[in-house]
Amino acid sequence: MIRNFAIIAHIDHGKSTLADRFMELTHTISGLHDEQMLDRNPISRERGITIKLAPVTMKYKGATLNLIDTPGHVDFSYEVERTLDSVEGVILLVDATQGMQAQTLAHAYKAVNLGLTIIAAVNKIDVPHAKTDETVAALASFLGIPQESVHRISAKTGQGVQELLDAVIETIPQPELSEGDPCARIFDSYYDAYRGVVAFVRVVEGTIKQGMQLKLIGTDTQFEVSEVGVFLPDLSACESLGPGSIGYIVTNQKDIRSVRVGDTIRTKQGGAALEGFRIPTPMVYASVFPTDPVDFPLLKKAIDKLILNDASLQYESLYSASFGAGCKVGFLGLLHADVTRERLEREFGQNVILTPPHVAFKEEGTMFYEPIVRLTVVTPPSYMGNVMQLCEDSRGLFEAMDNTHSHIVLTYKIPLAEIVTTFFDTLKSITSGYASVDWELIGYEAVDASELQIRLNNEPVLEFSEIVVRERAQKRANHITKRLKELIPRQQYDVRIQAYYQGRIIASERVAPFRKDVTAKLYGGDRTRKDKLLDKQKEGKKRLKYVGKVSIPKEAFGKLWTS
Ligand code: GTP
Repeated sequence: MIRNFAIIAHIDHGKSTLADRFMELTHTISGLHDEQMLDRNPISRERGITIKLAPVTMKYKGATLNLIDTPGHVDFSYEVERTLDSVEGVILLVDATQGMQAQTLAHAYKAVNLGLTIIAAVNKIDVPHAKTDETVAALASFLGIPQESVHRISAKTGQGVQELLDAVIETIPQPELSEGDPCARIFDSYYDAYRGVVAFVRVVEGTIKQGMQLKLIGTDTQFEVSEVGVFLPDLSACESLGPGSIGYIVTNQKDIRSVRVGDTIRTKQGGAALEGFRIPTPMVYASVFPTDPVDFPLLKKAIDKLILNDASLQYESLYSASFGAGCKVGFLGLLHADVTRERLEREFGQNVILTPPHVAFKEEGTMFYEPIVRLTVVTPPSYMGNVMQLCEDSRGLFEAMDNTHSHIVLTYKIPLAEIVTTFFDTLKSITSGYASVDWELIGYEAVDASELQIRLNNEPVLEFSEIVVRERAQKRANHITKRLKELIPRQQYDVRIQAYYQGRIIASERVAPFRKDVTAKLYGGDRTRKDKLLDKQKEGKKRLKYVGKVSIPKEAFGKLWTS
């Protein structure tokens, strides 16, 4: 008996904690372990958010339960999409202290559209101020199910968790178990320096074993299976992966481009590819450069390896007059861009500069078209006025309102460029953190826009320049020039920062020269102190990037857009 299922929820509603309780209950892990075992990526742990899907195989009451834990943040929704395509059912988890939020709705709609079995559960019922009854009622009415079928649980204390796992066995259907020639789909992968690409697969038909000669259909690559196994949650080799199961295949492929997430694996005789996954459209673009230009080939290799583990990334090589060779990378949002920079540095040892991410406008002749998204905001009724005002100030067009539940659901058509900058911070502050959002790209619309070009000492710096709609140009120009003035240290000569828009300079700032002699204040004698300061200055230089003749500290690139 096999059950393949995922836990889906809004960010922080308790997915990884519930996965811990399931793993303990099924003795997959002992009671003594770190919290959130499935979320062991150090960046995830430090930021407190899941950034990757994570599978685990558990044995329980004679069944094999394959669970995939998913991220909650909208920037990592592609991980959820691929997960949902690999399972038959989901637990839709809602925090009783927060109620249903934007990603609760977004993920639930996806699960419904795929025809997956949904088990509803309300979590954190142990919290004294939890609004359990209210949340159960809202969830039941949203899904059109009786309130009694909504599970009431505490992933923290374990209350109700066993009944929930029993429900997984009872209600989620068994996958089709068709024997025959092996056929599997890759839903994730990573690169192992010794074993090549390790592919995470959902077996659709047949059985896969070590030593088999198989083929990657999309890239027409033959390989020998050097190991198969399951996630306990660490990789654990096993004899075979039968039909309907979820596990991994060590492909031994060192050519990382030959293995693609979404590709089909079949016997070496080949056959048709299964339907792959939707390729996500990047929401923002930024360029990545090595701090030292000689490291470009290493950076490119690192990005290729990272893509194996983050299939939502897309890139192309570019050459920049200011920075040399680099890559233009498409991301699903600003958080995704920042996490990617951090992964490149920490997991792949690269020292990189990430230029400020921008929304990609389409350009045809002199016309610009900007990406438009459908934005869903879920808010308590008391903040509705504030939220509507913010959306309207952000060039949003009201579409619909649903006030049939305890929270109001507002839908707006809104330019992506408006929501990738300060929208979320403002929303958070005007709703005391109680509103949540989700969005999806719905198309492009013509708009009066031009390039806002940033020049440093008369040299245009494309990496700081962006397409901006006319009504936002002045504000943006003031902001960027002021921010650059704060971030660019004094140099030995004047630095003029100018913003140029539609034929004229609309904002400018100046960084006055300063001859930086760090030892000037020291008198004679103290050699060691003087040497120390000089060493420190040398260190500092390594982290500077020269744009034309202007040196800019590496951190300034990040601070320019995270401010
Ligand atoms: P993302 O994957 O980042 O979206 O988060 P998540 O849904 O995996 O949530 P996570 O398990 O990280 O839990 C978020 C916070 O809620 C953590 O601090 C948990 O300790 C806490 N938490 C989870 N379940 C419960 C619960 O039942 N009761 C209480 N009191 N706290 C809980």
